[in-house]
Amino acid sequence: MTITVDLGARSYDVAIGDGVRRGLKDLIAKRAPKAQVAVIVTSPSLRAQPWFDFETGISQHVLEVPEGEDAKTLQTVEALLEKIASLGLSRNDILIAVGGGAVTDLGGFAAASYLRGIGLINISTSVAGQVDAAIGGKTGVNLSAGKNLVGAFHQPLGVFCDFETIATLPERERLAGMGEVAKCWLLEGRSAKDLGSQTSSELATMAVALKARIVSGDEREGGERALLNYGHTFGHALEVLSLAKSKDELRHGEAVAIGLSFAAHLAHALGRVGAEVIANHNAVLDFFGLSYAAPRDFSVEALLEAMSHDKKAHHDLTFVLLGANGFEVVTGIDPDVVAKTIESFRG
Ligand code: GLY
Repeated sequence: MTITVDLGARSYDVAIGDGVRRGLKDLIAKRAPKAQVAVIVTSPSLRAQPWFDFETGISQHVLEVPEGEDAKTLQTVEALLEKIASLGLSRNDILIAVGGGAVTDLGGFAAASYLRGIGLINISTSVAGQVDAAIGGKTGVNLSAGKNLVGAFHQPLGVFCDFETIATLPERERLAGMGEVAKCWLLEGRSAKDLGSQTSSELATMAVALKARIVSGDEREGGERALLNYGHTFGHALEVLSLAKSKDELRHGEAVAIGLSFAAHLAHALGRVGAEVIANHNAVLDFFGLSYAAPRDFSVEALLEAMSHDKKAHHDLTFVLLGANGFEVVTGIDPDVVAKTIESFRG
């Protein structure tokens, strides 16, 4: 299955399915015919996987970056760019990012920056990456002040969402990624009752199609793309506080799952939706086996503070919420209502 992100001359395909990574060589020949060198950017644990068997048809080098979100820094990008420069890559050459969201964000930013932009191909190896991070051209790194505060829009030449790479994921990581799939199901206005008839391939295709449609219409997040942050205001706050507190932090998708249920509760508290919407959100999360129990480790004040510092929040409390007009970005929400909803949500 192939889904196109329609951006005129910069359009590209997202290939979805078992073994699709084997189309890499053909994609390079088609989309980067002058490329002579490819750098494959990945992490050590992914390089050791049985599916790490990429054939580019041109000279290729594997460059490792450290594992995880913690390594998504300017320092890591600088070290990577020095290695790329030492290999003498030209503007016609390409960078292939192989990994989850941390690697495709970081690798994408290196591709956007080197010689002011070289070709990028994403081979996404996590659930959340395949349905979200690898598609849409957002690249970047974290600062100590917050996640993804430095970056660039740099659309790839193509994206591969190969299910064979998901099969080797630890169960917790696979499950956490389903938080983004649940988000897409809810954004599509679908009922939990219809989930039973869906294959995992159909669910991934649904999520990729939603992302491709939204990015095609709003590449730079001037409007509808912001809806993809559904569940992320509360989720992001939990994720950031959890990361600061613990080595076994909440995964992004786990935090988003809690944030989705919270967004339904908040919409209800604001009189925007009925209680059946909360029930449907929770039933969707139950279907995927995702918990929506919010940890009690963080004070309401700390959560409010983290939410108002979210870079997408513009220093007030901004949520994507469902209401009579469908999903929309709602700004300037009364902190007292949010605080009370946190209390009641946590029970
Ligand atoms: N992850 C949200 C977006 O790509 O816009």
